[in-house]
Amino acid sequence: MISSLIKVEHMTGNMIIKNASQLVTCSGFKAKQGKAMSNLHIIADGAVVIENGRIIDVGKTEEVLERVTESDYKTIDATGKSVLPGFVDSHTHFVFGGYRAEEFSWRLGGEDYMEIMNRGGGIAATVAATREASKEELIKSGRKRLESMLSFGVTTVEGKSGYGLDEGTEIKQLEVMRELDDIHPIDIVRTFLGAHAIPEDFKGREGQFIDYMADDIMPQVTNRNLAEFCDVFCEKEVFSVEQSKKLLIKAKELGFKLKIHADEIFPLGGTELAAEVGVISADHLLHASDNGIAELAKCGIVATLLPGTAFSLKEAYARGRFIIDQGCAVALATDFNPGSCFTESIPLIFVLATLYMGITIEEAVTALTINGAAAVDRADRIGSIDVGKAGDVIILEFPSYKYIPYHIGVSCVEKVIKNGNLVFDKENQMNR
Ligand code: NIG
Ligand code: FE
Repeated sequence: MISSLIKVEHMTGNMIIKNASQLVTCSGFKAKQGKAMSNLHIIADGAVVIENGRIIDVGKTEEVLERVTESDYKTIDATGKSVLPGFVDSHTHFVFGGYRAEEFSWRLGGEDYMEIMNRGGGIAATVAATREASKEELIKSGRKRLESMLSFGVTTVEGKSGYGLDEGTEIKQLEVMRELDDIHPIDIVRTFLGAHAIPEDFKGREGQFIDYMADDIMPQVTNRNLAEFCDVFCEKEVFSVEQSKKLLIKAKELGFKLKIHADEIFPLGGTELAAEVGVISADHLLHASDNGIAELAKCGIVATLLPGTAFSLKEAYARGRFIIDQGCAVALATDFNPGSCFTESIPLIFVLATLYMGITIEEAVTALTINGAAAVDRADRIGSIDVGKAGDVIILEFPSYKYIPYHIGVSCVEKVIKNGNLVFDKENQMNR
């Protein structure tokens, strides 16, 4: 595999990709809401030029080649292929110790996700394993997972802490992500999710746990610049709307951008809270109310939908079609984690969204590119093939983006270019 484990931001590349059957630019510098999600701004027979890691020209191949000296660049001929921006997986929990295959089999036998969690399994089991794991072990497993994500065309990923629930382990998870960001081509956006579950020693003292997170741990995280976002699991029997609100307001004061796990299992009102406190993205939304969805649309908050989780938990999907029709900006993400959704597969997420949530193929592409970028507040830098943006581009082995869901659950990504450097090449793997 070409993918080097050296951060490519510092060794930015010069590259031309030409003759693409479709250059799917997803052009734009902010989240696309409602109907705007349908326009992919496709250039037939397109080319893109990347210099020093940034996109400097985009257009018809013939015209672009008149403007540049081709021999100054490494060239990839994309004849018969489609080219898209790299995918942004804007919601994952990919740094963790241990696995929960047993729990999966219990759920197959009819046990409930929350019941398993409440008797010390679920998130609590991963917390125990993550506390146990050394930094080196977490880096090793995290790096493998990033390699897999890269093969699916992911060039930026968001990753959350939340499997420590104590000072040392929460910070360890964030430090691991920072180190992985340095050594792996995929950019990692770090989120502090200290309020992910109630640890055994705080059972019945949820309010005190929120204060411990807000007063003792969050200031350290910001002082050391360990996370850009703060998230909370606002859920029945986890953190109430009031507790979540207290935490998010404190986080905002400390300079965090905000996210929320809202109305995933029970319609608690996390969606309305998202609008009230001004999050960048509200995630899950399986049980979001009509009023909450209208608020998200009004405030321009990204609604991040995670169909893999509904699929894996055998729950009804979030109302994707309705949410877009109400004028929201929807992002799609994997929610990759060891419990509710153990998959980093972008093609799986894509096909579930299109087959079961009423989301069109065009909207799903937008949801995984420019809107994914908006969900991590980077729509000005990544998520589309526009002049000035990072040279993060994927080449599919087929002439149209429509093959993504059509090839059910199988990745069509042939090459991944990060900051103008080729970092994954399926063809090269086959030649070995
Ligand atoms: O997004 N809901 C809370 N957190 C994760 C699941 C974490 C786990 O099961 O380990 C989620 O579904
Ligand atoms: Fe999650």
